[in-house]
Amino acid sequence: MDRWTLYELCVQSAPDVVALLRRAHGGAARTLAEDFAGSAAVSRAWVARGGRATAIDLDAGALERAARIEGLTTVCADVTERTPAVSSASDVVYVGNFSILYLKQRERLLAYLRLARERLASGGIFACDTYGGPAAFQLGAWRRERFLEDGTRVVSTWEHRAADPATAQVENVLHFRVEREGELLETFADAFVYRWRLWSIAELADALREVGFARHEVYANIHDPLASPRELDGDYSVCIVARG
Ligand SMILES: C[S@@+](CC[C@H](N)C(=O)[O-])C[C@H]1O[C@@H](n2cnc3c(N)ncnc32)[C@H](O)[C@@H]1O
Repeated sequence: MDRWTLYELCVQSAPDVVALLRRAHGGAARTLAEDFAGSAAVSRAWVARGGRATAIDLDAGALERAARIEGLTTVCADVTERTPAVSSASDVVYVGNFSILYLKQRERLLAYLRLARERLASGGIFACDTYGGPAAFQLGAWRRERFLEDGTRVVSTWEHRAADPATAQVENVLHFRVEREGELLETFADAFVYRWRLWSIAELADALREVGFARHEVYANIHDPLASPRELDGDYSVCIVARG
Protein backbone atom coordinates (compact mmCIF):
# COMPACT_ATOMS: atom_id res chain seq x y z
CA MET A 1 0.00 0.00 0.00
CA ASP A 2 1.18 3.53 -0.65
CA ARG A 3 0.08 6.70 1.11
CA TRP A 4 -2.38 7.72 -1.64
CA THR A 5 -4.11 4.31 -1.53
CA LEU A 6 -4.47 4.70 2.24
CA TYR A 7 -5.66 8.28 1.81
CA GLU A 8 -8.40 7.25 -0.63
CA LEU A 9 -9.42 4.39 1.65
CA CYS A 10 -9.55 6.37 4.88
CA VAL A 11 -10.32 9.94 3.91
CA GLN A 12 -12.32 9.91 0.71
CA SER A 13 -15.68 8.77 -0.48
CA ALA A 14 -15.49 9.80 -4.11
CA PRO A 15 -18.83 8.27 -5.25
CA ASP A 16 -20.61 10.26 -2.51
CA VAL A 17 -18.93 13.47 -3.65
CA VAL A 18 -19.98 12.80 -7.24
CA ALA A 19 -23.57 12.18 -6.08
CA LEU A 20 -23.57 15.48 -4.17
CA LEU A 21 -22.13 17.45 -7.11
CA ARG A 22 -24.58 16.01 -9.64
CA ARG A 23 -27.51 16.62 -7.32
CA ALA A 24 -26.37 20.15 -6.47
CA HIS A 25 -25.90 21.00 -10.15
CA GLY A 26 -29.49 19.96 -10.74
CA GLY A 27 -29.18 19.55 -14.52
CA ALA A 28 -27.36 17.15 -16.80
CA ALA A 29 -23.82 17.90 -15.60
CA ARG A 30 -21.31 16.33 -17.99
CA THR A 31 -17.98 17.98 -17.36
CA LEU A 32 -16.02 18.22 -14.12
CA ALA A 33 -12.85 20.18 -13.39
CA GLU A 34 -11.29 18.84 -10.19
CA ASP A 35 -8.81 21.43 -8.91
CA PHE A 36 -6.15 20.47 -6.30
CA ALA A 37 -7.06 16.96 -7.49
CA GLY A 38 -4.30 14.92 -5.81
CA SER A 39 -4.84 11.36 -7.05
CA ALA A 40 -8.02 12.51 -8.82
CA ALA A 41 -10.31 10.04 -7.07
CA VAL A 42 -13.36 12.25 -7.65
CA SER A 43 -12.53 12.63 -11.37
CA ARG A 44 -12.19 8.86 -11.67
CA ALA A 45 -15.56 8.34 -9.97
CA TRP A 46 -17.08 11.03 -12.21
CA VAL A 47 -15.96 9.41 -15.49
CA ALA A 48 -17.04 6.01 -14.17
CA ARG A 49 -20.56 7.47 -14.25
CA GLY A 50 -20.17 8.49 -17.87
CA GLY A 51 -18.99 12.12 -17.69
CA ARG A 52 -15.74 13.77 -18.69
CA ALA A 53 -13.25 15.22 -16.19
CA THR A 54 -10.09 17.27 -16.03
CA ALA A 55 -7.96 16.79 -12.90
CA ILE A 56 -5.46 19.53 -12.12
CA ASP A 57 -2.70 19.36 -9.50
CA LEU A 58 0.87 20.51 -8.96
CA ASP A 59 1.92 16.95 -8.09
CA ALA A 60 2.54 14.93 -11.26
CA GLY A 61 3.17 11.78 -9.19
CA ALA A 62 -0.25 11.92 -7.56
CA LEU A 63 -1.97 12.54 -10.93
CA GLU A 64 -0.22 9.50 -12.39
CA ARG A 65 -2.95 7.34 -10.77
CA ALA A 66 -5.48 8.94 -13.08
CA ALA A 67 -3.42 8.73 -16.28
CA ARG A 68 -4.68 6.84 -19.30
CA ILE A 69 -8.33 6.72 -18.25
CA GLU A 70 -10.79 7.40 -21.04
CA GLY A 71 -12.64 10.67 -20.57
CA LEU A 72 -10.16 11.91 -17.96
CA THR A 73 -7.48 14.49 -18.72
CA THR A 74 -4.78 15.22 -16.14
CA VAL A 75 -3.00 18.56 -16.07
CA CYS A 76 0.03 19.25 -13.91
CA ALA A 77 -0.38 22.95 -13.20
CA ASP A 78 -0.97 25.62 -10.58
CA VAL A 79 -4.74 26.14 -10.38
CA THR A 80 -4.26 29.77 -9.36
CA GLU A 81 -2.81 30.53 -12.78
CA ARG A 82 -4.54 30.71 -16.14
CA THR A 83 -3.65 27.52 -18.02
CA PRO A 84 -4.68 26.97 -21.67
CA ALA A 85 -5.14 23.22 -21.01
CA VAL A 86 -7.94 23.91 -18.49
CA SER A 87 -9.65 26.81 -20.21
CA SER A 88 -12.72 24.95 -21.54
CA ALA A 89 -15.99 25.56 -19.69
CA SER A 90 -17.01 22.99 -17.06
CA ASP A 91 -20.37 22.19 -15.51
CA VAL A 92 -18.68 21.73 -12.14
CA VAL A 93 -15.44 23.08 -10.71
CA TYR A 94 -14.69 21.15 -7.51
CA VAL A 95 -12.08 21.69 -4.80
CA GLY A 96 -12.08 18.82 -2.29
CA ASN A 97 -10.69 17.79 1.07
CA PHE A 98 -10.18 21.34 2.31
CA SER A 99 -7.76 22.28 -0.46
CA ILE A 100 -9.28 25.77 -0.71
CA LEU A 101 -7.49 26.37 2.60
CA TYR A 102 -4.15 26.41 0.74
CA LEU A 103 -5.10 29.88 -0.45
CA LYS A 104 -4.04 31.68 2.69
CA GLN A 105 -4.22 35.32 1.63
CA ARG A 106 -7.65 36.75 0.90
CA GLU A 107 -6.46 38.40 -2.36
CA ARG A 108 -5.16 35.05 -3.57
CA LEU A 109 -8.42 33.36 -2.59
CA LEU A 110 -10.45 35.98 -4.47
CA ALA A 111 -8.23 35.78 -7.56
CA TYR A 112 -8.61 31.99 -7.65
CA LEU A 113 -12.40 32.13 -7.15
CA ARG A 114 -12.71 34.69 -9.97
CA LEU A 115 -10.78 32.41 -12.28
CA ALA A 116 -12.83 29.37 -11.22
CA ARG A 117 -16.08 31.26 -11.92
CA GLU A 118 -14.86 32.20 -15.41
CA ARG A 119 -14.25 28.51 -16.11
CA LEU A 120 -17.90 27.55 -15.50
CA ALA A 121 -20.29 26.68 -18.31
CA SER A 122 -23.72 28.31 -18.24
CA GLY A 123 -25.64 26.86 -15.26
CA GLY A 124 -22.40 25.56 -13.77
CA ILE A 125 -21.51 25.28 -10.09
CA PHE A 126 -18.38 25.81 -8.03
CA ALA A 127 -17.98 23.64 -4.91
CA CYS A 128 -15.40 23.56 -2.14
CA ASP A 129 -15.31 22.34 1.45
CA THR A 130 -14.16 23.52 4.84
CA TYR A 131 -14.52 22.47 8.47
CA GLY A 132 -15.35 24.07 11.80
CA GLY A 133 -16.82 23.58 15.24
CA PRO A 134 -15.47 23.46 18.81
CA ALA A 135 -12.44 21.25 17.95
CA ALA A 136 -11.32 23.28 14.92
CA PHE A 137 -8.60 25.11 16.86
CA GLN A 138 -8.00 22.43 19.50
CA LEU A 139 -4.79 20.43 19.36
CA GLY A 140 -5.13 16.67 19.48
CA ALA A 141 -5.41 13.51 17.44
CA TRP A 142 -8.44 11.56 16.32
CA ARG A 143 -8.22 7.92 15.25
CA ARG A 144 -10.36 5.92 12.89
CA GLU A 145 -10.01 2.32 11.83
CA ARG A 146 -11.11 0.40 8.78
CA PHE A 147 -10.96 -3.29 8.02
CA LEU A 148 -10.26 -4.60 4.54
CA GLU A 149 -11.87 -7.79 3.28
CA ASP A 150 -8.68 -9.78 3.95
CA GLY A 151 -8.72 -8.72 7.61
CA THR A 152 -6.10 -5.98 7.24
CA ARG A 153 -6.70 -3.22 9.78
CA VAL A 154 -5.90 0.33 8.69
CA VAL A 155 -5.75 3.00 11.37
CA SER A 156 -5.72 6.61 10.24
CA THR A 157 -4.92 9.40 12.67
CA TRP A 158 -5.90 13.00 11.99
CA GLU A 159 -3.72 15.29 14.09
CA HIS A 160 -4.21 18.98 14.76
CA ARG A 161 -0.53 19.77 15.38
CA ALA A 162 -0.78 23.52 15.46
CA ALA A 163 -3.75 25.87 15.41
CA ASP A 164 -3.82 29.60 16.01
CA PRO A 165 -7.32 31.01 16.46
CA ALA A 166 -5.95 34.55 16.13
CA THR A 167 -4.65 34.04 12.58
CA ALA A 168 -6.63 30.91 11.64
CA GLN A 169 -3.37 29.23 10.58
CA VAL A 170 -3.49 25.48 11.19
CA GLU A 171 -1.16 22.55 10.68
CA ASN A 172 -2.86 19.20 10.30
CA VAL A 173 -1.23 15.85 9.75
CA LEU A 174 -2.43 12.45 8.56
CA HIS A 175 -0.73 9.28 9.76
CA PHE A 176 -1.49 5.67 8.84
CA ARG A 177 -0.77 2.25 10.40
CA VAL A 178 -1.41 -1.00 8.60
CA GLU A 179 -1.79 -4.18 10.69
CA ARG A 180 -2.81 -7.78 10.12
CA GLU A 181 -3.67 -10.24 12.90
CA GLY A 182 -2.16 -7.85 15.43
CA GLU A 183 1.14 -7.57 13.53
CA LEU A 184 2.30 -4.16 12.39
CA LEU A 185 2.94 -4.29 8.62
CA GLU A 186 3.67 -0.63 7.81
CA THR A 187 3.50 2.80 9.35
CA PHE A 188 3.24 6.09 7.50
CA ALA A 189 4.01 8.77 10.08
CA ASP A 190 3.41 12.30 8.73
CA ALA A 191 2.06 10.78 5.49
CA PHE A 192 0.46 14.12 4.62
CA VAL A 193 1.18 17.44 6.32
CA TYR A 194 -1.15 20.36 5.58
CA ARG A 195 -0.48 23.99 6.46
CA TRP A 196 -3.67 25.87 5.87
CA ARG A 197 -5.65 29.00 6.60
CA LEU A 198 -8.93 27.79 8.06
CA TRP A 199 -11.54 29.88 6.21
CA SER A 200 -14.94 29.80 7.90
CA ILE A 201 -18.19 29.25 6.01
CA ALA A 202 -19.02 32.95 6.40
CA GLU A 203 -15.63 34.06 5.06
CA LEU A 204 -15.90 31.77 2.05
CA ALA A 205 -19.48 32.90 1.44
CA ASP A 206 -18.34 36.56 1.49
CA ALA A 207 -15.53 35.79 -0.95
CA LEU A 208 -17.86 33.90 -3.30
CA ARG A 209 -20.30 36.82 -3.33
CA GLU A 210 -17.49 39.30 -3.86
CA VAL A 211 -16.30 37.57 -7.04
CA GLY A 212 -19.81 37.54 -8.48
CA PHE A 213 -21.54 34.31 -7.49
CA ALA A 214 -25.22 35.10 -7.07
CA ARG A 215 -25.99 32.51 -4.40
CA HIS A 216 -24.66 29.56 -2.48
CA GLU A 217 -25.89 26.61 -0.44
CA VAL A 218 -24.12 24.72 2.34
CA TYR A 219 -24.24 20.93 2.42
CA ALA A 220 -23.40 18.95 5.56
CA ASN A 221 -24.47 15.69 3.89
CA ILE A 222 -24.71 14.49 0.31
CA HIS A 223 -28.46 14.89 0.02
CA ASP A 224 -29.79 18.35 0.82
CA PRO A 225 -28.41 21.78 1.65
CA LEU A 226 -28.80 23.03 5.22
CA ALA A 227 -32.24 24.41 5.88
CA SER A 228 -30.99 26.14 9.05
CA PRO A 229 -27.51 26.90 10.46
CA ARG A 230 -28.75 25.21 13.67
CA GLU A 231 -28.22 21.89 11.87
CA LEU A 232 -24.44 22.47 12.31
CA ASP A 233 -24.14 21.13 15.80
CA GLY A 234 -20.67 20.25 17.15
CA ASP A 235 -17.75 19.65 14.79
CA TYR A 236 -18.57 19.58 11.12
CA SER A 237 -17.25 19.60 7.61
CA VAL A 238 -19.36 21.15 4.89
CA CYS A 239 -19.39 21.55 1.13
CA ILE A 240 -20.29 25.02 -0.13
CA VAL A 241 -21.88 25.11 -3.58
CA ALA A 242 -22.00 28.44 -5.44
CA ARG A 243 -23.70 29.37 -8.69
CA GLY A 244 -24.73 32.26 -10.89
C1 LIG B 1 -5.50 17.89 0.49
S1 LIG B 1 -4.88 17.31 -1.05
C2 LIG B 1 -6.44 17.07 -1.80
C3 LIG B 1 -6.51 16.03 -2.87
C4 LIG B 1 -7.91 15.86 -3.46
N1 LIG B 1 -8.50 17.11 -3.85
C5 LIG B 1 -8.85 15.18 -2.52
O1 LIG B 1 -10.02 15.54 -2.44
O2 LIG B 1 -8.46 14.25 -1.86
C6 LIG B 1 -4.30 18.79 -1.76
C7 LIG B 1 -3.66 18.75 -3.14
O3 LIG B 1 -3.55 20.10 -3.61
C8 LIG B 1 -2.38 20.21 -4.41
N2 LIG B 1 -2.07 21.65 -4.54
C9 LIG B 1 -1.72 22.52 -3.56
N3 LIG B 1 -1.59 23.77 -4.08
C10 LIG B 1 -1.90 23.69 -5.41
C11 LIG B 1 -1.98 24.64 -6.47
N4 LIG B 1 -1.71 25.93 -6.27
N5 LIG B 1 -2.33 24.20 -7.71
C12 LIG B 1 -2.59 22.89 -7.93
N6 LIG B 1 -2.56 21.94 -6.95
C13 LIG B 1 -2.21 22.34 -5.71
C14 LIG B 1 -1.36 19.35 -3.70
O4 LIG B 1 -0.35 18.93 -4.59
C15 LIG B 1 -2.23 18.18 -3.20
O5 LIG B 1 -2.22 17.09 -4.09
